[in-house]
Amino acid sequence: MSSTMELKMHKEERNIVKDDRKMIVSLKNLNVYYGNFHAVDNVNLNLEKNKVTALIGPSGCGKSTVLRSINRMNELLPETRVTGEILFDGVNINNPKIDAVAVRRRIGMVFQKPNPFPKSIYENISWGAKINGYKGDMDELVEKSLRKAALWEEVKDKLKQSAMRLSGGQQQRLCIARTIAVEPEIILMDEPASALDPIATARIEELIYELKKNYTIAIVTHNMHQAGRISDYTSFLLINEDRKGHLVEYGVTDDLFLNPKDIRTEEYISGKFG
Ligand SMILES: Nc1ncnc2c1ncn2[C@@H]1O[C@H](COP(=O)(O)OP(=O)(O)OP(=O)(O)O)[C@@H](O)[C@H]1O
Ligand SMILES: [Mg+2]
Repeated sequence: MSSTMELKMHKEERNIVKDDRKMIVSLKNLNVYYGNFHAVDNVNLNLEKNKVTALIGPSGCGKSTVLRSINRMNELLPETRVTGEILFDGVNINNPKIDAVAVRRRIGMVFQKPNPFPKSIYENISWGAKINGYKGDMDELVEKSLRKAALWEEVKDKLKQSAMRLSGGQQQRLCIARTIAVEPEIILMDEPASALDPIATARIEELIYELKKNYTIAIVTHNMHQAGRISDYTSFLLINEDRKGHLVEYGVTDDLFLNPKDIRTEEYISGKFG
């Protein structure tokens, strides 16, 4: 088969995937205000089920703000207002009648800095399940969650030890295990590997690849190579002239990196600014 033909088929396959894609989250005209400051301006963005969507863009463009909107974490910050629709499985969860705690159980979050509780490894994992009234076998749940986060082999003999004694990379995998333990459908990750060395980063990247078989993932990253390696879709945000963050381009990662539609995307990914 000629390479042009292969390329064409590849494109067609991708288009089929694109047409069939199942959006688990759709942000529609999302605006976020911190007091009088309009931080995020009219963002429209989708998360496809069992895919990884990367959010990229220069510091301050609103990546964390958009990510936090998806599980209603922004409202924990004072004087924050979020408008627009956040459709999760077709239901607008940006509605005070919807229980935000229940939303966060289904849409978990992993932060830039690993934040284990100052408790044992075991308790870190069992805590969420316990407060949710989990009735199953807790030992089994702890093992299963640690296995899914690729940490079990390293900690199975020291489950009663404080989580604070783990390395940074292990702590981050523990936080992922803790998130998985309450069986969410979506995992939001805000620069989960930026505080880690290259080996620990590679482990997190491998883990993300494994996790997307069962979860939908949205990840903020400053690392273009990382976005290119791990994500299926990429969204590029930028601050416009009036200081609001907005979405410049969203698409299949390969297309966005190899064939950006917007000159600003091209300039950013080629390192001209940001
Ligand atoms: N709690 C807050 N109160 C007031 N303003 C905030 C708050 N959090 C963020 N902002 C502002 O909103 C804008 C977007 O911030 P955000 O943290 O979402 O950016 P970001 O793209 O994640 O940046 P970085 O790459 O540096 O993490 C920035 O101007 C920031 O100063
Ligand atoms: Mg951020």
